[in-house]
Amino acid sequence: MKALILSGVFSLTLTGQALAWGQEGHSIVAEIAQRRLSPAAADLVKGLLGPGHSLASVASWADTVRDERPETYNWHFVDIPINVAKYSKDRDCKKNDQSGDCVIAALARLRDDLRCGSGEKKIEALKFIVHFIGDVHQPLHTVDELKGGNDIKVDIFMRGLTCTAKCEPKRKSSNFHTAWDSDLIQATTWSWGAYVDRLEDGWLKSAESKRAGIDGGTPVDWAEDTHKFAPIVWNSRPADNVLDDRYLRDVLPTLDRQLGVAGLRLAKFLNDVSADKCPTPR
Ligand code: ADE
Ligand code: ZN
Ligand code: ZN
Repeated sequence: MKALILSGVFSLTLTGQALAWGQEGHSIVAEIAQRRLSPAAADLVKGLLGPGHSLASVASWADTVRDERPETYNWHFVDIPINVAKYSKDRDCKKNDQSGDCVIAALARLRDDLRCGSGEKKIEALKFIVHFIGDVHQPLHTVDELKGGNDIKVDIFMRGLTCTAKCEPKRKSSNFHTAWDSDLIQATTWSWGAYVDRLEDGWLKSAESKRAGIDGGTPVDWAEDTHKFAPIVWNSRPADNVLDDRYLRDVLPTLDRQLGVAGLRLAKFLNDVSADKCPTPR
């Protein structure tokens, strides 16, 4: 009986659609931002979450309410055709009364809720924003085709950077979208904290990360920037759909860059909102 239940749970996790960067990805982005908050933004966060509460601790909350609040379902991604560079609101962010519109429209509303809202609405706005600025940097969260790769079965068969000398890599079935949400991150470090260290010593020291304006722009700019990487990571997938160490090596600079830049942009977004007084608070 126990085995039956376990196998049920297991097959659910294998067939269930991926929602977002996994918990690790969202915590990585949130922690990078937390370390770069202005005093005013840190005060705003403290006022909303409570003293000592981290952005990382609420970064996956949006995934936990997705079922009970179906109108938030589509807020996690934007469906831009893979071979098109520019976002089109009418094509890619259609209003749907049941499942919502898209991450770009959601972020515009949430910015306003965080700046001018009050009470629970304002707290939720912060938690959603921390999550969605992460999501809009996951390359497959900007891809329309095959539900952003959720409908592409893959096997993960890599040592990564965690399975060294004595360890034999295990084959794991997954889908292409989940590989990007979670599997590649998990193959790179043992914990999300270690991934943050990796980025602080790596991409966050790079010339690109220091470039003026790298942390600026609007959600449309971010989605289009993220989307540039989508055909590259999509087309470098091996023909047999077995994601191996070669694939990880090829895409790891992109994975690092997207997690790092998302953290910088989340910090600036919160710093800007906290400096921008609401003319007519609600
Ligand atoms: N469902 C449809 N498109 C999706 C995407 N790009 N990411 C996640 N879920 C999706
Ligand atoms: Zn998400
Ligand atoms: Zn996802």
